Amino acid sequence: MALLRSVVVGCGAYLPENVVTNAALAERGIETSDEWIVQRTGIRQRHIAGPDETTSVLGTRAAQAALDEAGLSPADIDLVLCATSTPDHTFPSTATQIQAALGIEGGFAFDLQAVCAGFVYAVATADRFLSTGGAKRALVIGAETFSRLLDWEDRTTCVLFGDGAGAIVLEARENDASDRGVLTSCLRSDGRHRAKLYVDGGPGSTGTTGKLRMEGREVFRFAVGSVTDVIEEAFRASGTTADDLTWFVPHQANRRIIEASADKLGIAREKVVLTVDRHGNTSAASIPLALAAARRDGRIQQGDLVMIEAIGGGFTWGAALIRW
Ligand code: ACO
Repeated sequence: MALLRSVVVGCGAYLPENVVTNAALAERGIETSDEWIVQRTGIRQRHIAGPDETTSVLGTRAAQAALDEAGLSPADIDLVLCATSTPDHTFPSTATQIQAALGIEGGFAFDLQAVCAGFVYAVATADRFLSTGGAKRALVIGAETFSRLLDWEDRTTCVLFGDGAGAIVLEARENDASDRGVLTSCLRSDGRHRAKLYVDGGPGSTGTTGKLRMEGREVFRFAVGSVTDVIEEAFRASGTTADDLTWFVPHQANRRIIEASADKLGIAREKVVLTVDRHGNTSAASIPLALAAARRDGRIQQGDLVMIEAIGGGFTWGAALIRW
């Protein structure tokens, strides 16, 4: 049997209309400044969802945009995978709500929760289904409404996050000379770091949603110090190097983390796709939002070698190398 590859055939995104600048946060009474936020994180603004814009609403719009780029209809999809930590409800899954909103009646849908690393985990998971014949075409979505999880009294966290959704369509195709598809992925987690980044509630503990809590410096240290292992593993497994990359599309949490990681790995700064200035940290949505931005402005082209990488609460982290 010919080797099956998971090939990206469409990519799309959706951002809520409401843009909130750093200055607007300060005007609302949060003790912060544009200067502090830009200098520490690179963030200038973020999009915040309206009351009716739930995660499944954002995810559905991003998924539709990805289908449009692929020239496919919802009926062509047999797997819907949504990475999110901010589901509309505890259950049913956001993925099934997106499936229904798109009018997909066949196949299967489920959520995957690995916080900010969720999209990388979802790509790796969808790839396993597609490359083994378990599904033919997957919508892989990262969708979040982190604004609902924030403690707006805590200036150390509330300035960092935003809302949005992005999606790709992966299609199982026989590998050919183009070498397109997900070439490799590497996932890691270490639950001993739980207390450094978590939400202080949940259905099985407090019965409430809870609010995001973070030890920023510890997260920063780990993100720069340890996370590059999965990228090095992806290079090793695929026989590629930093020089072979066309684009590096990391999780968009903090410009300083991204640039320090790129420098450590020897990835040239001009290959780094940055959207954190416009979107803030949108957790599992940040990578597909950045992919869609770089597709829209013509940077990512068919045949390009693209490394995605993320770290999130848990800690969870991972990387995937894709020939677009
Ligand atoms: N505005 C103004 N001042 C602030 C703000 C704010 N929003 N937040 C904190 N400060 C103050 C602090 O109170 C402190 O004041 P003090 O010196 O009087 O006590 C001072 O700024 C410095 O605070 P630090 O926490 O030491 O600031 P640091 O340089 O570490 O930057 C930051 C904080 C931006 C959170 C940084 O640690 C970071 O980026 N960490 C990574 C965390 C991250 O990106 N998490 C995202 C989720 S995880 C993920 O996606 C990977």
